Amino acid sequence: MIYLDNAATTWPKPESVYRAVYDCMKYFGANPGRSGHKMAIKAAQEIYECRELVAEFFSLSNAENVIFTQNATQGLNIVIKGILNPGDHIICTAMDHNSILRTVYSMHEDIEYTIVDADKYGQIDVSYLETLVKPNTKLIAMTHVSNVCGTVLPVKEVSQICKKHNILFLLDASQSAGILDIDMRRDNIDYLCAPGHKSLYGPMGTGVLLINSPIIPKPIYVGGTGSNSASLSQPDILPDRLESGTLNLPGISGLYKGIEFVTQIGTENILRSEKEMTSFLIDGLSEMKNFKISGLGKNENRTGVVSFYHTKKDCVEIAEYLNLEYDIAIRSMYHCAYLAHKALGTDGTGTVRASIGYFNKLSDIKTLLYALEKID
Ligand code: ALA
Repeated sequence: MIYLDNAATTWPKPESVYRAVYDCMKYFGANPGRSGHKMAIKAAQEIYECRELVAEFFSLSNAENVIFTQNATQGLNIVIKGILNPGDHIICTAMDHNSILRTVYSMHEDIEYTIVDADKYGQIDVSYLETLVKPNTKLIAMTHVSNVCGTVLPVKEVSQICKKHNILFLLDASQSAGILDIDMRRDNIDYLCAPGHKSLYGPMGTGVLLINSPIIPKPIYVGGTGSNSASLSQPDILPDRLESGTLNLPGISGLYKGIEFVTQIGTENILRSEKEMTSFLIDGLSEMKNFKISGLGKNENRTGVVSFYHTKKDCVEIAEYLNLEYDIAIRSMYHCAYLAHKALGTDGTGTVRASIGYFNKLSDIKTLLYALEKID
């Protein structure tokens, strides 16, 4: 099978990730931070080491400010719902995933929101964004990289605006963590949410929320933390305040190995490898008369998420054909980001999306292009 659906989740994972999940379940699968026996202590150590690795990976000074979540969506919900109060204003962008947009919209009766439009390449105008800031703007939430077309959004410029106007900045790194260099302190990112199972190469059911601000979100769910159990109030300290219930220890053990793998290869090498294949794909698609690339048709300011459509054929049918005839796994339609499709001009049709990962080879892209040429 040729797997080109890495924006949904990366596959395969490094062998060390599979082994870590198995070893954890088999040899130290106890509940971390609850009991004092040897296996529980080993489990707690495993969690702590992963917290430290995540903090170091994103240049966060305090490992306790790393919260383990189930995915990026859960972290985004925690920050947006836990920071905004009635009457507050949030700015987000048309390139954001529904994990931001639906969370914001679910609060629309109590808060104000503005969605910054994007152009047909998925780019936003930062000076225009600044004009949308209001006295009650508390948070700007933005995706780092579009999950539809791979365009990289301007993190540094937006974080400068946040700093200038005393606004908190939430970055959704779902499509960038493990591919682009992210330094929370250098780039003034207050909150960062990332899935563990995409380009950090961990298992599904893992994610992280990192907090680089003294303003801690109110918990949206509470419960057992293994700490201060005599009190009915949720503890104030991190990570306990935002981490209730048993953690996904096997997933976190796998995530540790995934991040270790990314660190060993280096994000710059991962990006370079993905860009070589992206360039080949973009060039090949550009030569086909009936296929159009959605978003940036060049290999700059983008990652290996490439969306395209056929001028006469349905994108779902194309994905089905690729799957059935060539065993190519690819995602089609709206990718949970309809406003991004509106900006790109593909809201009527959707797109076929090929998303490249570190384990892909140039021959995968050649086969995809060969299969598409048969349609052209
Ligand atoms: N957000 C993921 C995707 O883009 C699931 O496919």
